[in-house]
Amino acid sequence: MSRIVIVSNRTPGKGPAAGGLAVALRKVLGNREGFWFGWSGKLTEQPQAEARIEDIDGLTVAQVDLTREDHHAYYAGFSNSILWPSFHLRLDLATIESYWYEGYRRVNAQFAKALMPLLRPDDIIWVHDYHLIPLASELRNLGARNRIGFYLHIPFPTADALYAIPHHAELMRDVSRYDLVGFQAQRDVAAFTDFAQHQAPSTFGARAIEAIDFSRTDVAAFPIGSDPEAFSRLAASPAAKKMIHRMRRSLGDQALILGVDRLDYSKGLPQRVEAYEKLLANNPRLRRNVHLLQVAPPSRDTIKEYQETSDTLDAICGRVMGHFSEPDWSPLTYVKRAYGQPSLAGLYRMARVGLVTPLRDGMNLVAHEYVASQDPADPGVLVLSRFAGAAEIFPEALLVNPFDTDETSEALRMALDMPLEERKERWQGLMAAARTHNVDDWALRFLDRLAPGTADAGSHSRDIIYLDSVA
Ligand code: G6P
Repeated sequence: MSRIVIVSNRTPGKGPAAGGLAVALRKVLGNREGFWFGWSGKLTEQPQAEARIEDIDGLTVAQVDLTREDHHAYYAGFSNSILWPSFHLRLDLATIESYWYEGYRRVNAQFAKALMPLLRPDDIIWVHDYHLIPLASELRNLGARNRIGFYLHIPFPTADALYAIPHHAELMRDVSRYDLVGFQAQRDVAAFTDFAQHQAPSTFGARAIEAIDFSRTDVAAFPIGSDPEAFSRLAASPAAKKMIHRMRRSLGDQALILGVDRLDYSKGLPQRVEAYEKLLANNPRLRRNVHLLQVAPPSRDTIKEYQETSDTLDAICGRVMGHFSEPDWSPLTYVKRAYGQPSLAGLYRMARVGLVTPLRDGMNLVAHEYVASQDPADPGVLVLSRFAGAAEIFPEALLVNPFDTDETSEALRMALDMPLEERKERWQGLMAAARTHNVDDWALRFLDRLAPGTADAGSHSRDIIYLDSVA
């Protein structure tokens, strides 16, 4: 059976790491032959030509170090200051330094050179996320004829946002060198198809750029999921119960509203706290009876826009606390650190409302984990942004426009007042969808489409429980 080679910027490390991607992919290699390839997390003086191969908690991981300069241009620069904001339709937050593109390409070429000698002709290669769009081109230029698939974990942008990205035509040509391109949601497939079918005649200097031929690239939506059975077990585990007990001691009977997100401007955190502020302002009966806990581990904090988001959130949380707190009651707790999955599962389970309101999101695995962690006899309510990929599979959530803080505030009120029967009914629909879209089947579906007949059902037996998962 062919080996599976997973390639992503971050490789699974020992101990906790923020990011749903690592959690999801760790399982794929659980029972298959193959290895994971990516950046080691280390910076060196000289670019490294050969990968170092290590066994990390039973997985074979091949890693390369990057120079500080390349890493900056590739990761903080082109990937996270140009591609991330543009793909999330935040051109106002993009910093267009087109020279970062050279560093981005250099790192992709370095990855390809270091990966090539490790490959066998029938290996199936699965590349992940926006950091590595050119990888198939780079591998093919070195002679790779393998099946190569690409999965985009973040949303695909509208054509206008795509055109704002320097070298977008080359990047889209790189996309056409994959055999299969997977997106999170139908809306992403639609945006991609719209671009592919109506490529605007762009020009560079006086030279017209030829339309890109996507006819050899298969494109489909593969909505990612979590491991709902593992989360459901975790939420009833002693570690989760300990967390619930601690929280109950401090909260008493107050209903918990919970948000768990990387501290990222795409997550709509200021709008979320403003919606909560309106809830308290419009419903005095809820004061002292409700508490918002926002868990937001810092992310990409060398980038100015992330620091600004953090400052904005500090200010809004301070404002709400100053306005509504009393000597013996505080309306919210804001925690800037990551928690392990057992503790998170406990928090999800005790939260009456899971508040997941990104302004735009590929999928959002927190929504899946919240659903999976609920007590079937007394489930909480998911308030979900209609701009998260998860909205396509979770119609039983209370879907909101996260930009409209009045609407989110009203959804919060409805969630808090929702009778048990309705909560159960909605949750059953949500849990069924979380099961249908579980992470094992997601991987099998993608691999089966990329290389029919090669996916193996054995991966069902492994559990993930360790990494933090803040998508
Ligand atoms: C998102 C991206 C992942 C990324 C994760 C954490 O989920 O889709 O590719 O790994 O965020 O971000 P970071 O920049 O810390 O890897």
